Amino acid sequence: MRSQKNQDLRGHGARVLGKFADEAKFFKAWVEKPGLTGAVSPSGRFLARMMARYVDPAARGPVVELGPGTGPVTQALIQRGVAPERLVLVEYDPDFCKLLARRFPRALVIEGDAYDLPGTLAGMLSEPAAAIVSSLPLLNKPEDERVRLLRDAFGMMQPGGRFVQFTYGMISPIPRKHKGETLHFIADGSPAVWLNLPPARVFSYQAATEADVKKLKPADVFIGKLRESAGRVKEEFRERTDRMQSEIRLATAKAKQDLRARRRKAHNDNKSIPPLELLRKIGEARRNPKR
Ligand SMILES: C[S@@+](CC[C@H](N)C(=O)[O-])C[C@H]1O[C@@H](n2cnc3c(N)ncnc32)[C@H](O)[C@@H]1O
Repeated sequence: MRSQKNQDLRGHGARVLGKFADEAKFFKAWVEKPGLTGAVSPSGRFLARMMARYVDPAARGPVVELGPGTGPVTQALIQRGVAPERLVLVEYDPDFCKLLARRFPRALVIEGDAYDLPGTLAGMLSEPAAAIVSSLPLLNKPEDERVRLLRDAFGMMQPGGRFVQFTYGMISPIPRKHKGETLHFIADGSPAVWLNLPPARVFSYQAATEADVKKLKPADVFIGKLRESAGRVKEEFRERTDRMQSEIRLATAKAKQDLRARRRKAHNDNKSIPPLELLRKIGEARRNPKR
């Protein structure tokens, strides 16, 4: 009984230490290449699970993961029922690649650029992918590159395959309209994962078939656009509120500091009048009340 308890405690300790080591590796990568790493710490398990939820483990073909880092989403995909040998992990950072190969020896780890899917995955997929799951810091890239990535991903998946992406923004990181052209996809956004730090959302995109496009009534398109712009307004409002609150906090702190400085000065000024001088002034004021 006691030895089981000790074993459990050791297991828990090892997990905590492992998590801490991952955080440290991630933080180091972020310090060295902030734009590439895109986050200061690995995704939490709630976000990783939310990503994995969009993948159907029974769908045919490999599951490609872009930007697996230290592997929290990879782990969640395996827990979801995706066999490790179906996983193709595309990671840019060589240290993360080594770690992934040790941690998931049955998965295929490719050190390469995920924004160049046709080049990086050339000859690597035995058949079109069931899903492509991405944690790439998309918002650091221009819209052109994001749209190209989605188009390339659609070209490499089974019909109905999902491109799954997380974002720290609250709206879709891939716009529906790009350079005056409508992108035909079916998007599905998760609720915000508040328990992740920072909170995040997951979006899933599926290529719309011609039938889907025909089914789309003008009213649906209109409502879709309305929702999208309402989302953008909400996001902007949140950003402005945050900015105003920090400005108010700064101004209040500064006003308090000024007040303290003035009080200190007044106190020192009063103290600096010697007592005899003060008495002389009082006497003078009594003698010449009109002055
Ligand atoms: C925000 S982190 C996510 C890591 C991990 N999936 C997680 O959820 O904790 C982004 C990851 O994408 C990788 N990455 C960034 N640009 C890349 C690129 N062009 N090709 C492949 N991986 C890239 C980074 O090295 C990093 O591991």
